[in-house]
Amino acid sequence: MAASQAWCCLALLLLLLCDPTRLSRVPMRMQRKGIVAEAMRRLQEVFDIEALPHDVLPHRKPPQFMVDLFNKVADSNGITKAPGLLEGNVVRSLEDRDYFDQFYFYFNISSVGRNEQMLKAELRVFKLNKNHVPQKSFWQHFLKVDVYELLDRRRKPQRRNLISSRLLSLYTEGWEVFNVTQTVSKWVRNSSTNHGFLITTTHLSKTKLESNFVKFAKSRHNMRDSRNAFLVLFTNNDRQKSSSFLPSSTDQIVPCQLNDLFVDFHEIGWAGWIIFPRGYKAYYCKGACLFPLGESLRATNHATVQSIVHTLKLSKDVSTPCCVPDKLSSISIMYFDDNENVVLKNYKDMVATSCGCH
Ligand SMILES: *[C@@H]1O[C@H](CO)[C@@H](O)[C@H](O)[C@H]1NC(C)=O
Ligand SMILES: *[C@@H]1O[C@H](CO)[C@@H](O)[C@H](O)[C@H]1NC(C)=O
Ligand SMILES: *[C@@H]1O[C@H](CO)[C@@H](O)[C@H](O)[C@H]1NC(C)=O
Repeated sequence: MAASQAWCCLALLLLLLCDPTRLSRVPMRMQRKGIVAEAMRRLQEVFDIEALPHDVLPHRKPPQFMVDLFNKVADSNGITKAPGLLEGNVVRSLEDRDYFDQFYFYFNISSVGRNEQMLKAELRVFKLNKNHVPQKSFWQHFLKVDVYELLDRRRKPQRRNLISSRLLSLYTEGWEVFNVTQTVSKWVRNSSTNHGFLITTTHLSKTKLESNFVKFAKSRHNMRDSRNAFLVLFTNNDRQKSSSFLPSSTDQIVPCQLNDLFVDFHEIGWAGWIIFPRGYKAYYCKGACLFPLGESLRATNHATVQSIVHTLKLSKDVSTPCCVPDKLSSISIMYFDDNENVVLKNYKDMVATSCGCH
């Protein structure tokens, strides 16, 4: 859907929700219900949300990494301030869905559309500390960490692919980030190849190699911990087309200008799962485009000629030009999807920043 249509659809819904007197012009309640349902459906399309998540926010916080990312990308009103920061327009954090095996991690990537272009996938795991024991040698200070892709889950012995290896100090604690782009891209193309990750650690003690001596924080029995492993996916979903401007009505004496319009996710009934922001200022364009079109009306040459034709009544069908957004900016929204994953999305052309006669 063209962004301007998206924009009109939002405006329509807001008018319906905010100003019930307008509805009296719609003869039947049924008709209103139909319009609201259609508006909600279009709105879901605009925000690219297939299934509406549960009404209530899960009782947990989004990963700090996602909150920090949101704050880098957008201001508190959701206005995108650094559009180039994300390579694509969608970032998802998926939580580990295996609650039993300490070294095994499984992520359900079904929310990624097959038409989405995978740009980057990061496995983020929190290495837990090992109590300090005095070490004799330099090498005993180190731990080797291997990240594998499992090629089948259930069978033994497990077939696996090494994705990444690194040496870490035994005694530090903190986040480790592994590039798993290639593997996850394959999983997205064919989800039946997703058998999860295995992380092994080996450590040279005094005399022998010890395995899996060090652990990574892990969701156990559904217990939430801010240090639990998660997978971050950066994708591009270019279904958001750039705009072609549609006219809005122009029968006011006030000249064409930007007007306040706050889109409140609470009023739309989406407050339960949108984490940030609470709503955003979309603005709208309203006002007359009468001859002569002053500088501030940012008229196109075409609009200027049209307004002259209209004023001189050179052709009776020609109306005044239309007052429409001529600059739009993007917003960013972070929400829980229906699988309780945290998603950050950039939406193009959602805020009118100036109006003009076109
Ligand atoms: C992944 O999530 C989807 C959507 O919630 C669900 O239908 C599917 O069964 C899940 N897959 C696995 C392997 O758990
Ligand atoms: C991650 O891996 C992919 C594919 O293996 C590679 O193209 C990309 O450059 C890597 N990214 C980083 C940041 O190392
Ligand atoms: C997906 O992967 C499975 C298992 O490797 C394979 O049997 C199947 O043919 C693949 N499907 C497609 C569409 O490539």
